[in-house]
Amino acid sequence: MGAVLYGRDAEQARIAALLDDARDHGRSGALLLRGEAGIGKTALLEWAAGRCGHDRVLRVTGYEAERVLAFGALHQLLWPVRDRLDALPGARADALRAALGLADGGHGDRFGVGLGLLTLLADLAEDGPVLCLLDDVQWLDAASADALLFAVRRLAAEGVVVLAAARDEGLLGSGLPEMPLGRLETCDAVRVLEGRGLPADAVQRVLEEAAGNPLALLEFGAAGPTAPGTLPVPERVLASFGAQIARLPDRTPGRPRRGRCRSPSACSPPSAPRSRGCRIAPASCC
Ligand SMILES: Nc1ncnc2c1ncn2[C@@H]1O[C@H](COP(=O)(O)OP(=O)(O)OP(=O)(O)O)[C@@H](O)[C@H]1O
Ligand SMILES: [Mg+2]
Repeated sequence: MGAVLYGRDAEQARIAALLDDARDHGRSGALLLRGEAGIGKTALLEWAAGRCGHDRVLRVTGYEAERVLAFGALHQLLWPVRDRLDALPGARADALRAALGLADGGHGDRFGVGLGLLTLLADLAEDGPVLCLLDDVQWLDAASADALLFAVRRLAAEGVVVLAAARDEGLLGSGLPEMPLGRLETCDAVRVLEGRGLPADAVQRVLEEAAGNPLALLEFGAAGPTAPGTLPVPERVLASFGAQIARLPDRTPGRPRRGRCRSPSACSPPSAPRSRGCRIAPASCC
């Protein structure tokens, strides 16, 4: 099981219901978790994997650098089960094999690939529930995304659960049921910081600067007590927000210049929400 997650009861309940439905009733389901960098999408996918016990889990993580590689993501997802391609009807198996680079034939038969994927997932689920974890789908190559969406939209009674995670702008209009991940309430943010031995004024400052973003809470909390107004922005937080920062025009108000950024609230796009309206008032939030 992964890290303890605070303030995600509703999300965990919804995921658990999907997993239970697959296990107990053979129903398929899908959910797309959407939210900003560091908000806890991957952590929830890992929590789901941990809850699945011995069920089969297939995974793919989108990489920005591989976006141009047609079917690169599908290759990642299906490579561990490539031996099961032999069980598929000829044309579907051929299309999938070609997509995965296991046979000649090019990438022309997109319909066949989608159909092959759907059939393969259904076939795997004959042995028990299957969980597909699709992380960072904003960076999936288009051919893989199309095949995955084709298959996911047609899943019904196979016992396959697909959980996807996207940053705010990823996979818009996919038709998948979505659940937005908001920033943590202050009381949950406080729990993330508990046990770190931070003095009360440092806790207060980290809460304010992190604004309910779990990654920022962890990174700022790890920085320990610092002089007022000088919370450093660790590389991990900058890296997480980097792509969003890079896309902002140079003259965007509040756009940080490298080395001058002090907090994720400064690094966030101007539209990023604060901690559900409770900037720094634990008593009124909990
Ligand atoms: N609800 C939570 N309670 C405690 N810790 C959390 C919570 N959510 C996330 N974390 C922790 O915060 C960090 C960032 O979370 P995570 O990597 O899941 O973010 P993400 O949304 O996947 O970000 P990215 O878009 O950059 O991939 C991780 O160390 C994770 O364990
Ligand atoms: Mg992630």
